[in-house]
Amino acid sequence: MGDNYDGSFDITTLGDGGGDESSEMARDIKSGLLSEPKDISPWPKYLYDDEGSRLFEEITGLPEYYQTRTEFSILEERAAEIIKRSGCREIVELGSGSSTKTRALLEAMLEASGGDGARYSPLDVSEGILKESGEKLDEEYADLDVHGYVGDFDGSLGQVFDDRDGRDDDEAGSRLVLFLGGTIGNFTPEKRGEFLREIRSGLASGDHVLVGLDLVKDKNTLEAAYDDSAGVTAKFNKNVLKVLNDKLGADFDPSLFEHRATYNEEMERIEMWLDSHVSQTINVSGLDVRFEAGEGMRTEMSHKFTEKSVRRTFEGAGLELTELYTDERSLFGLALAGL
Ligand code: SAH
Ligand code: AVI
Repeated sequence: MGDNYDGSFDITTLGDGGGDESSEMARDIKSGLLSEPKDISPWPKYLYDDEGSRLFEEITGLPEYYQTRTEFSILEERAAEIIKRSGCREIVELGSGSSTKTRALLEAMLEASGGDGARYSPLDVSEGILKESGEKLDEEYADLDVHGYVGDFDGSLGQVFDDRDGRDDDEAGSRLVLFLGGTIGNFTPEKRGEFLREIRSGLASGDHVLVGLDLVKDKNTLEAAYDDSAGVTAKFNKNVLKVLNDKLGADFDPSLFEHRATYNEEMERIEMWLDSHVSQTINVSGLDVRFEAGEGMRTEMSHKFTEKSVRRTFEGAGLELTELYTDERSLFGLALAGL
């Protein structure tokens, strides 16, 4: 912790600063509301305004939400091995959020660098949480060069991957691209494949990618993790209605909707829905949207994986799976892959 720390760290805003410009958002949301059933889950980024990011952080500490603590325990146990196998001197993290679990890897990377220093480049659409966590890390780890990016996965990855800090590849050492938390499960299968292929095309020889994936398990455990007894996930889900009201001038009344989380066994995914208590018409950027009483709108999908589907996913994207790390109860997986 330096006396000279000036309270700011290096941050670049890419594209339109998170891709939530209202015209793009209106297009996405209207197309979701016009589909049958109503479905805004292909755009999970709209769940993460400052309040959404804060609520997600609260979810990560809930007793029912086993994912975060399990992923952290795997990282703590395997960090030195992962850093050794990847030989990285830079970690690029996509959808970094609070970067809390990343600390296990950052510390192992700094240790392995033997005092030569290392670089951390987090990217997130949610500027508030990126700034807060980036400042803390920059202040705490003197040998760590932290450079944050505010941006959307769509359209920003190339710029982040191309930024090798002005060093050539030999000097820079290799890079580990992180995508933690099971966020890959929030994409549609098609988007998941495109995303991994885009990461693959940004890897140089010797670089690796480490992806967190939530694993298939019994329905009760899964549904409890998305419908916690304290009601935090319900708040997180309903917060998207406030985002639509704030950003698109919509007139949703969150108290007229009910949170529902169901495990779709056939598709191996949790689906979050908001069901309307009453028949009502909502105006969203000039579009009148009719909800019948009991009608639902899907707000998020969270796909779960098996070892087989992990292999298929990585192979399909042209990535070589080096290792699938898991915990002793096989609740969560961390896939390490390279070119
Ligand atoms: N990696 C963290 C946070 C996971 S929550 C963890 O494991 O705890 C998902 C994160 O991805 C949020 O911080 C959210 O703001 C970010 N995110 C979601 N969609 C995004 C997008 N399209 N572009 C960039 N970041 C996005
Ligand atoms: C960020 N993502 C992996 C979380 C998940 O589990 O799908 C988001 C979340 N939704 C409800 N609870 C947590």
